[in-house]
Amino acid sequence: MAVVAKYCPEIEVTVVDINRERIDAWNSEELTNLPIYEPGLKELIEKIRNKNLFFSVDVEEAIRSADMVFISVNTPTKTSGLGAGYASDLKWVEASARKVAEFSVGHTIVVEKSTVPVRTAELISNVLLSQEEKNKINKEKRTFSVLSSPEFLAEGTAIKDLENPDRVLVGGEDKMAISCLTEIYKKWIPEEKILLTNLWSSELSKLTANAFLAQRISSINSISALCEATGAQINEVSLAIGSDKRIGRNFLKAGPGFGGSCFQKDILNLVYLCRFYGLSKVADYWENVINLNNWQRKRIADLIVEKFFGTVTDKKIVILGFAFKANTNDFRESSAYYISKELLENGAKLVIHDPKVSYKEINLALGDFTYNCDNKKRFSCMDNLSKAFDNADAIVILTEWDNYKKLDWEKISSLMRHPAWVFDTRSILNESDIKKFGIKLWSVGDGLNY
Ligand code: UDX
Repeated sequence: MAVVAKYCPEIEVTVVDINRERIDAWNSEELTNLPIYEPGLKELIEKIRNKNLFFSVDVEEAIRSADMVFISVNTPTKTSGLGAGYASDLKWVEASARKVAEFSVGHTIVVEKSTVPVRTAELISNVLLSQEEKNKINKEKRTFSVLSSPEFLAEGTAIKDLENPDRVLVGGEDKMAISCLTEIYKKWIPEEKILLTNLWSSELSKLTANAFLAQRISSINSISALCEATGAQINEVSLAIGSDKRIGRNFLKAGPGFGGSCFQKDILNLVYLCRFYGLSKVADYWENVINLNNWQRKRIADLIVEKFFGTVTDKKIVILGFAFKANTNDFRESSAYYISKELLENGAKLVIHDPKVSYKEINLALGDFTYNCDNKKRFSCMDNLSKAFDNADAIVILTEWDNYKKLDWEKISSLMRHPAWVFDTRSILNESDIKKFGIKLWSVGDGLNY
């Protein structure tokens, strides 16, 4: 919405949320504690906030004055009831549609922005249509159009992706509504990148795009294990296959498994939809993308333990990076979280560092593991890296933050307890920089030690 406001100064954009704490943070003077860290976001907010971009908790008033409403609420995987563990929970989408039905004035275009299962627009339309029926009886003139325009930005590059997207989708039937939305996008996006589709194609494209991207990561991660077993090197294999234009270079980096709020959730949802439509083989096919991802995480945690001859009890392990990738403060479904949990379950003592994830949240996430049976703390978060490495037995790099690429390994080696190990799950380090200081190095997909 900040990017829409930037390119459409004549449009007033109001972001509403029922969570006052979040809205207060978006409105805070200092701008240092915005709820989301994204390169370039702070600077953008600083320029346009309270000019044509507003943050408010007054949902009703914002709907009343709006010509267009973007539903951008979360759609997490259901944890109970029908479809638990797979289906997306649409309660927030429905609640938003009901609010729009209740408070809108005149004609309102409702744009589905959240990632939703195919045919969700039907749910929104049903809610809005029943309001239209009521309006007719009350002789009120309130009408609605529903469009789907899913968001394809990736975290960490959100502003860049929004300013220069590969494509935007506008799905729907109402020509007037479609033209209103495309006019907005056309302010900064070339027309040929604006794809018009029907509602269902637009909804399904988002789930499918994420499933295909995640599938590439699971594919390359499966080959990383084969490289380690055979002497091949995953970065060489990635380059070799990525040079084939039909495969392409992007999204072929082996790592500790994909994380984030989208891939797992969306694939689970796709699996649920396939099962719902009786396509069990298709469901199994996509579910294996997730199975492989979980396997990669577990395999890495296990091999760390194995390198210490089967026990890491009371070993000090430094975790570098908790976010699910660099340049974000988001650690939802992050592999760092899962691998840390496995190591804690094995009795390791962790020191966790991340430049952007709040330590309060890490403490909450790993709360169950805070103390061992002797009431001693089992993990701590630390800003001061030089203190973190003191007497450490191992360092595990789980997020590819730039500052982890420039560490002083000579000094670190002198601080660690030997035999010392570095596990580079993102393959960001140079072997020659590390091994000369007597540290053992394991790097994902690196078969050189075969
Ligand atoms: C993803 C999609 O890219 C985006 O289009 C969609 O709108 C939302 O979901 P996001 O989850 O923000 O975006 O991040 P992305 O860059 O796709 O990375 C997801 C995970 O895959 C991260 O954990 C990342 O580290 C991992 N990854 C990515 C790899 O392990 N290797 C790669 O080559 C690329």
